[in-house]
Amino acid sequence: MTGFDAGWLALREPFDAAARDGELAARFVEAVVARADARSGSQAPSRPASWRPHACRLVDLAAGSGANLRVLAPLVPGDQDWLLVDHDPELIAAQARELGRWAVANGWSCRVAEGGLVIDAGRAQWRVRARRLDLQGSFDQLVLGSFDGVTTTAFLDLVSDAWLGRLADAIARAAVPLLATLTVDGLREWSPTDAGDAAIASAFERHQQGDKGFGASLGPAATERLRAKLDARGCITSAVRADWQVGPGRGEPAGSMLIRMIDEAAAVAREVEPAATPEIDAWVARRRAQVAQGTLSLCVGHQDLLGLPHVED
Ligand SMILES: C[S@@+](CC[C@H](N)C(=O)[O-])C[C@H]1O[C@@H](n2cnc3c(N)ncnc32)[C@H](O)[C@@H]1O
Repeated sequence: MTGFDAGWLALREPFDAAARDGELAARFVEAVVARADARSGSQAPSRPASWRPHACRLVDLAAGSGANLRVLAPLVPGDQDWLLVDHDPELIAAQARELGRWAVANGWSCRVAEGGLVIDAGRAQWRVRARRLDLQGSFDQLVLGSFDGVTTTAFLDLVSDAWLGRLADAIARAAVPLLATLTVDGLREWSPTDAGDAAIASAFERHQQGDKGFGASLGPAATERLRAKLDARGCITSAVRADWQVGPGRGEPAGSMLIRMIDEAAAVAREVEPAATPEIDAWVARRRAQVAQGTLSLCVGHQDLLGLPHVED
């Protein structure tokens, strides 16, 4: 229930896309393009803005089925080389499927070539390679300086303070732009409220701080901690709210998403507090009835974080 199956990632994808901060993404893209241009020496004023002899190189950490690329690639001008890193072989397999489906839905072609996928989006080519890597044990194998931008989404709440230190060190050393989107920040507001919400929320919070493979996870504190670490290393940071607004409504996709969120919260609460199962089941029944009536909504708090290298005057 709390795993990251491709079905769950597909369900959340439209809510993620709607919540993300557009201005932060635009500033990230600008920094990525500037770095790619500096690397390839294409800043000559006579060149058209879209001209670029080398593709922008991006790496997405904990890429899942590739949702981050699907949002960002259309925003970056020109050709791109993407490396999608994840430790889950099933999600890596889902990348080809989801990217192929997305390309076709947009009228682009997608073929297997050059050791990965090549999406021909008309105005540009996006080459996508996957790499199976455990970011806890093997993060140091990634040379972040070989990319023009580092992205990650819906991941940082799973990691430990020590791992964020490793990430901040690597970002600062490489002086590469980072866009870390949709990290949960602890806000979870059901409307209408219910007498059972507080107990469910408290169990959920305790679960969020468990070990997700990186040691005790930071949960809602992750954005703030990473921001402080990047600031301490001289990066220029900005953080902006990027909350999910789910419902009200019983139609798709809100209805399915609300049911999933209710069931996930209840499963976590039963695991943390097995003796409270009858109260938890009653909460689920009340909440599911509200979904059937189209009266329930949920706001889930997230933060987007941009980290840019400090530029000397
Ligand atoms: C909530 S999902 C987000 C996936 C994707 N970024 C998205 O937004 O759809 C968290 C991702 O972290 C990945 N992950 C968790 N632990 C990892 C690890 N130790 N190494 C690499 N990836 C990991 C999972 O496989 C999953 O794809």
